[in-house]
Amino acid sequence: MDTDRIEKRKKNSARLVWGSKPKRAPNPRDIEFQTAEVVIPNPFRDQTRLSSYSTDLSRAAIDATKMNRLIWGDNLLAMQALLASGYEDKVGLIYIDPPFWTDEDYYLNVTVDGGGVTRSPSIIERLAYKDYWEGGIDSYLDMLYPRLQLMKRLLSKNGVLFVHTDWHVGHYIKVIADEVFGGENHRSEIIWQRFSFHADAKRFGMVHDTLLEYSRSDEYTYIPQTGKWKKQYVDSHFREDPDGRQYTLSDATAPGHGSTGKPMRFGDKLLHPPKGTMWRWADQDEVDRLMKEGRIVLTSSGRPRVKWYLDEKEGPTVHSIWTDIPPLNSQAAERVGFPTQKPEALLERIIRSSSNEGDLVADFFCGSGTTLVVAERLNRKWIGCDFSKTALQVTRNRLVDAEARPFLVENIGNYQRHMIYLAGARIYEMQCIVLKLYGAVPRQDLPELGVRKGDDGALELVYVSYPDRPVTARKVAELAVQAETLDGTGYRRLVVLGWDYEYNFEEMLEARKRASLRRTKVEILNRTIPPEVYDYLKTHESTDEIEDLSGTVIFHDKPYLKLTKPVRERSQKNAKVTLGIERYVVFDVPIEDEEQRREVLEIAKKSFAALLDYWAVDWDYDGLMFKSGWQAFRGFGRNMEPVPTRASKELPTGRKYTIAVRAVDIFGNDATATCTADLR
Ligand SMILES: C[S@@+](CC[C@H](N)C(=O)[O-])C[C@H]1O[C@@H](n2cnc3c(N)ncnc32)[C@H](O)[C@@H]1O
Repeated sequence: MDTDRIEKRKKNSARLVWGSKPKRAPNPRDIEFQTAEVVIPNPFRDQTRLSSYSTDLSRAAIDATKMNRLIWGDNLLAMQALLASGYEDKVGLIYIDPPFWTDEDYYLNVTVDGGGVTRSPSIIERLAYKDYWEGGIDSYLDMLYPRLQLMKRLLSKNGVLFVHTDWHVGHYIKVIADEVFGGENHRSEIIWQRFSFHADAKRFGMVHDTLLEYSRSDEYTYIPQTGKWKKQYVDSHFREDPDGRQYTLSDATAPGHGSTGKPMRFGDKLLHPPKGTMWRWADQDEVDRLMKEGRIVLTSSGRPRVKWYLDEKEGPTVHSIWTDIPPLNSQAAERVGFPTQKPEALLERIIRSSSNEGDLVADFFCGSGTTLVVAERLNRKWIGCDFSKTALQVTRNRLVDAEARPFLVENIGNYQRHMIYLAGARIYEMQCIVLKLYGAVPRQDLPELGVRKGDDGALELVYVSYPDRPVTARKVAELAVQAETLDGTGYRRLVVLGWDYEYNFEEMLEARKRASLRRTKVEILNRTIPPEVYDYLKTHESTDEIEDLSGTVIFHDKPYLKLTKPVRERSQKNAKVTLGIERYVVFDVPIEDEEQRREVLEIAKKSFAALLDYWAVDWDYDGLMFKSGWQAFRGFGRNMEPVPTRASKELPTGRKYTIAVRAVDIFGNDATATCTADLR
């Protein structure tokens, strides 16, 4: 009995231990996804990077579980929500390329070119993501371990996970993944040689990444892949036909297994196979045919040899060291400028080897969307997730550029609220922290409000919105009225710090100003709460610690979007409607360098299109879900150019249309507006 127990304890019990290792696996959570947009890329391009497509994808027709999904948010929440909404055992392949624990921040370079407004284009660095772990390796493992547990549950019975990593944490990941999946389900460790040279001063140059493959069970998808023959091998083994085709000559015999085969006719010669072998063909007709086609040749010594053409020969089977996929060079056509973007060829090999057409492929750290673009091309379904807005914007544009099938862009419902809870704070605490980060003193009597002395000495009333409700024009109008008389003297300025704003916020507020707020002297400033606030929620347990931090987080003014009036040109049953962006105003830009800031603001003033990353139109907005049936985006890398500012569409006459526009700028701000076109 005792020996039994010792035997049991000894076997496969090795585990990685760290102080904060979670004791329980996370559970599925019933969190709703909010569809921010249905993106309908255009299969028939009419202009470069423009897209226009008409479809009747109505809200009723959209079944999120049948569509490809791009989710903005923390993948822990996204996976918990997917598990709760029927995705358990449904994903055929998961590829993840999480941060590598490099202690670096990664930026995307964005060119702002005012078309001659300034001397040269300005290059702005926009944060893509941070790979910095204040709590050291423990906090990295705290992040990855529960996510691996969720991925295992999402995988189908024959599903496979690939974790892309390198020397920084690869060894830790292998041990925790062994624990989660079972060491027996560790299928391969692939070395991807990504550089041919790497200058490391006092050690061997680090030229490779590692891919760790795990399966959910012992029945899993594996389709062997072949590569290309190496040039050296081709040069030494192949020669050319007069028509330039490369061929090699191979043996015409097969082992005789103890006996010698019968002779066969090669042209007019009857030849016996060498002793103990046989000719590799069973019947004479085949030999005759191959002789006629010139596929069998007789050497100078009269022996038959078989011709193998290079263009017909399968390449060598791919093993665990991959040296034939180069990294993206600076000129690569697929380059979108996202740091740590992986080559499509790498994902193509992974997806082809471990999934079939129609399977669901997921990437929960999708970055610039390489996995999704390749999955789309290879006819797989896909889900992508990233919590960086920069990543999401790049991925969205990349999928539009790739003319993907319609897909959803989703937020995790009440994402901000969940993030606040995830950071261990409550709504009231969050409001206090945001107020303090803004430099305001929270009021005891009205928890959502604070007071700050503005730079010009005027007292400002500051409002912090609730994370799960967009700020409405109505609320702001009420606050403005309240601000006028509050505390006896009232306030000259009202600052709104909002997580989100309602759809047509600017227009509605303008309408209220024209009507009820006409006589109000209160100046209204609408600003957005930046996601960096989560970091403060996590790290500053007591709100008192925030006191000195005002100024470290910048709350930018919400940009302003104004549309042109739609122009109609009627034909018989249709009318061509043209509308455009009349003005897009950013009041300040998140650029530290003063000179560059001024330059970019100058460009923006003269040519606002230079600041737009993309804009999209829903020609028949139902007030609930934005369906972008037309979109323009600025392109990638060297192919970047300002977006056009007009869009047209033929619409059937006989009714009134609400047309909605959504514009997203290069800093990630979005602005929305609607207008109507009466075609009755
Ligand atoms: C190395 S990059 C992925 C690059 C990608 N393979 C490509 O080809 O572009 C890692 C990505 O993971 C994202 N990320 C990190 N932690 C995350 C989390 N908890 N939830 C969602 N995304 C996360 C980062 O924002 C970043 O875009």
